[in-house]
Amino acid sequence: MNVEGTTVLVTGASGGIGAEFARRFARRGAARVVLVARSEDKLDALAAELKGTTEAIPIVADLGVPGGAQRLVADVRTRGLRIDTLVNNAGSGSYGDFAGLAPERIGAEMQLNVVSLVELTRLFLPELVESGRGAVVNIASITAYLPMSGMAVYGATKAFVLSFTEAIWHELRKTGVTVLAVSPGPTTSDFHRVADAPENGNFETPQQVVDTAFRALEGSRRPPSVVSGRTTRFQSRVIGLVPRRTRITLGARAMAS
Ligand SMILES: NC(=O)c1ccc[n+]([C@@H]2O[C@H](COP(=O)([O-])OP(=O)(O)OC[C@H]3O[C@@H](n4cnc5c(N)ncnc54)[C@H](OP(=O)(O)O)[C@@H]3O)[C@@H](O)[C@H]2O)c1
Repeated sequence: MNVEGTTVLVTGASGGIGAEFARRFARRGAARVVLVARSEDKLDALAAELKGTTEAIPIVADLGVPGGAQRLVADVRTRGLRIDTLVNNAGSGSYGDFAGLAPERIGAEMQLNVVSLVELTRLFLPELVESGRGAVVNIASITAYLPMSGMAVYGATKAFVLSFTEAIWHELRKTGVTVLAVSPGPTTSDFHRVADAPENGNFETPQQVVDTAFRALEGSRRPPSVVSGRTTRFQSRVIGLVPRRTRITLGARAMAS
């Protein structure tokens, strides 16, 4: 995949993995990188950092509310932009027993992680196909591979992202659009603080996650999905081999340990 001269839109670009994707696409020669999130100050700071490397265009949008994806697409159109690569990275989780989670928080999480991701993919798809070198990169998680007692809704949203992305990878394989699901394991970012979640496991950096994604995007194999990090990749394979009841126990242990 050659992104030189293209326009890339990254959701959740105000920090963590999304900001690193934006930096990497800029360094790889993207002509324009559209930075989307709610925190205007952080988007402006990243746009200033990228000045001279690419044209960085911050757009403030809340993708956790109904209509958020449609409003973002309208904003992109008003600015006369056409997107070649869409990185659906914005996502959040909530730690705790399902029964204790606020219903509004659950709704916003599903809207952000699932509904907006699907809507943005569908709404931008015609121009990605027309581009001739379009790409969709969706950020899933190791939690897509097993039920996560303690983060039940989050894990289920990421299982959706993985399943959805692999299915459209097959549907779009003859269109020239590259499709990839990236599943990070624990990664240093604001994610755990926002989710009120304990910081368990071997942490990767956002740079390492983006390295994994670019190896897949730039290699010849064009996989439908990749898991980032040796330990996390090993875990994802083992999970596939054990009975479902054991998977549930493993998920619960991973959250509690
Ligand atoms: N960190 C991990 O351990 C880990 C592991 C596996 C998968 N992931 C996934 O990786 C992706 C990136 O997460 P991260 O680790 O980089 O966490 P992060 O630092 O918390 O970044 C999340 C990004 O999403 C944006 N966002 C949150 N709510 C939003 C909303 N309603 N509308 C628009 N943007 C919103 C945030 O920006 P604003 O707050 O400014 O809106 C931020 O830019 C997520 O999909 C996450 O599920 C993370």
